[in-house]
Amino acid sequence: RANDANLPPNVASWSKTLGDGVGVRPYGKPSPFEKDVVRRDVQWLTASRESSVSFTPLHDLDGIITPNGLCFERHHGGITEIDPHDYRLMLHGLVDKPLIFTLEDLKRLPRVNRIYFLECAANSGMEWRGAQLNGCQYTHGMIHCVMYTGVPLKLLLEQAGLKTNAKWLHVEGGDSSGMNRSLPLHKALDDCMIAYRQNGEMLRPEQGYPVRLVVPGWEGNIWIKWLRRIKVGDEPWYTREETSKYTDLLENGKARKFTFEMDAKSVITSPSPQVPVKGKGFLVISGLAWSGRGKVTRVDVSLDGGRNWRTAKIDGPVLDKSCVRFYAETEWNGQELLLQSRAMDDTGYVQPTKDDLRKIRGVNSIYHNNGIQTWAVKPNGEVENVEVG
Ligand code: MTE
Ligand code: CO
Repeated sequence: RANDANLPPNVASWSKTLGDGVGVRPYGKPSPFEKDVVRRDVQWLTASRESSVSFTPLHDLDGIITPNGLCFERHHGGITEIDPHDYRLMLHGLVDKPLIFTLEDLKRLPRVNRIYFLECAANSGMEWRGAQLNGCQYTHGMIHCVMYTGVPLKLLLEQAGLKTNAKWLHVEGGDSSGMNRSLPLHKALDDCMIAYRQNGEMLRPEQGYPVRLVVPGWEGNIWIKWLRRIKVGDEPWYTREETSKYTDLLENGKARKFTFEMDAKSVITSPSPQVPVKGKGFLVISGLAWSGRGKVTRVDVSLDGGRNWRTAKIDGPVLDKSCVRFYAETEWNGQELLLQSRAMDDTGYVQPTKDDLRKIRGVNSIYHNNGIQTWAVKPNGEVENVEVG
């Protein structure tokens, strides 16, 4: 609530004294009044804090860039703290010349800047069997979108010299989980990056300081943090993370494997359960859309659970394998709404309904749930996670 003493025609308290001088905050922080804009986790989801996840507060953000301190975290063995002096990246296997890079070695190489989203394959995984978690932070918050600075992986592979039978890479983290996956060589040579900066500054420890692998458009699990080793081989390794985990068990007992690409998806971030509608009148509906297969070409918004659709306005950069921000404006008179959004990408793919997705994929998997989300807006402005039949 406002303090009348600070409102016109009074002179506000902050206008009567000098503020802090420069240098008082050598590394700036958000306003103390924004203290509720934080990553959050759901304690009952995981057995330990070290192998767990915290979620991006999507409902409190706008535009497409996630601030570094708010990027969701997914660790299988806790946050690793690496002294950059002791950091080494090994590159070996089917190469002419095995190499070991220091961080300084990597920083001396030509570098590129790219904005990409990273989505955990388990994002929205709790929603396969029905509406579960009340808030887009929890249903869709295992995503962030930032600008990476780093070396194209292709460059390192060229330096080492690939043998003619090279087909797959084994990429491995230096954390206690030793997170490791098989990465097809064609992807490595296409757009993968060895990144050390995020939104201009060095990576945060949570995001893999000092070096992480960037695998644009592909599931977050393969974006190895605290990257320690790349081994070149001629076939996949079938590691735990691509057999027992990160495969999608179908209704018939078979499992999809190496489901790398993140399909087109979107979510309305406001209004949503954590940011209800504040009174009747002009209402801006806003959200994020993304596709791991290319560019988002269109986002539609429905106010009535998917019966009628209107094309939303996309504002800001529209980049390959990056988030886009969309808006739809309306007048709200206290009527019930069933808000939905659906993304389309430049391959012609249209984000499916949850029921259509279940028809093909069943409900056994927790991964790759990109179904259309529904938020019910109640007459009092409160918003709830629901499904429409
Ligand atoms: N890399 C290592 N070394 N250890 C990990 O636990 N988690 C993976 C991936 N890379 C992980 C890792 C998973 S499952 C995801 S979704 C992303 O990192 C999460 O990246 P973030 O913490 O930057 O959000
Ligand atoms: Co993940």
